[in-house]
Amino acid sequence: MGVRMAGLGHYAPAKVLTNDDLEKILDTSDEWITTRTGMKRRHIAAPDEATSDLAIAAAKMALQNASLKPKDVDCYVVATVTPDFAFPATGCIVASKLGVAGKPAFDIEIACSGFIYGLTVVSSLIRSGVYKRVMLIGAETLSKLVNYQDRSTAILFGDGAGAAILEESSEDSFLAADLGSDGTTPETLYLPAGGSRTPLTPEILAAHGDKIHMAGREVFKFAVNRMVESSLTALSRANLKPEDLSYLIPHQANRRIIDAAAQRLSMPPEKVIVNIQEYGNTSAASIPLALSEASRDRKLKDGDLIVFTGFGAGLSWGAVAWRWAA
Ligand SMILES: CC(C)(COP(=O)(O)OP(=O)(O)OC[C@H]1O[C@@H](n2cnc3c(N)ncnc32)[C@H](O)[C@@H]1OP(=O)(O)O)[C@@H](O)C(=O)NCCC(=O)NCCS
Repeated sequence: MGVRMAGLGHYAPAKVLTNDDLEKILDTSDEWITTRTGMKRRHIAAPDEATSDLAIAAAKMALQNASLKPKDVDCYVVATVTPDFAFPATGCIVASKLGVAGKPAFDIEIACSGFIYGLTVVSSLIRSGVYKRVMLIGAETLSKLVNYQDRSTAILFGDGAGAAILEESSEDSFLAADLGSDGTTPETLYLPAGGSRTPLTPEILAAHGDKIHMAGREVFKFAVNRMVESSLTALSRANLKPEDLSYLIPHQANRRIIDAAAQRLSMPPEKVIVNIQEYGNTSAASIPLALSEASRDRKLKDGDLIVFTGFGAGLSWGAVAWRWAA
């Protein structure tokens, strides 16, 4: 049994935070942000908008795109590091609000690698015959975890969601995957407090322990190497080479990271899907958001070979080689 994508959708909140807006609240500039990251704008959730709200909007678009109803999907999976609550899983809330309480639903928490891990897990569920059709959503409201007094992280992150409906198929789109992790130094990119290691206290809150902390330069170096190695491993497991690819769809963390990885894979710019200028880094949402936009813009043709690749907190990384089926 194989798997294919039956429908795609995406959603971003209406409010936009531009580089000019950031200049007004931080010691930064449009020129610095543009040259160092490629970002121009990010979308920011409203105070009463949670991750499940973004996920549901993307899921509805994917259902419409596939001409399906929520009941036609057997299982709901949300990849996120910004769940509505620490528990229950955001997937449960999404399924219930779509009117299908009772269906299996769960979350995948592996930060910006969430869609890559999710695509591997969900494809396995379908290829092994457990489910016929699964909704995989990457959704984040990272703006709620950003310290807007810290210019090294405040400029990077935005909110959004992307959804893919995966279903069984006689032709197999899933060609190969490579996944990895290294939890030796979680503090390279983490949310210090609010978990079982360091519960929240008033002192920790005052020190922004509930916000994203990151060693940017270290993440940068790791990101390029891991995306390239992981992409090459997935490709070789599928008996393919980078020159066989129609598109590289990378995690949108930094334009310079994307360009460096693409160059090392000898991928010309027209084969690399980039929307970082509009959304910033939306973690687990970035790859499905870019994929859904590419599909909407009719860039993808039947038989196109794609590598999805990402990296993030964990540290974690991965790549999936995929044959697009129209
Ligand atoms: C964060 C990142 C954009 C910083 O770019 P960089 O080129 O590495 O910049 P550096 O951290 O070396 O900082 C260079 C200088 O710019 C300053 N700077 C940092 N943020 C700035 C900002 N927003 N505006 C202006 N100056 C800034 C630094 O303070 C530093 O100043 P100094 O030389 O006086 O000490 C880059 O390291 C990055 O993208 N890393 C990966 C992060 C990532 O992808 N995280 C998510 C993973 S899923």
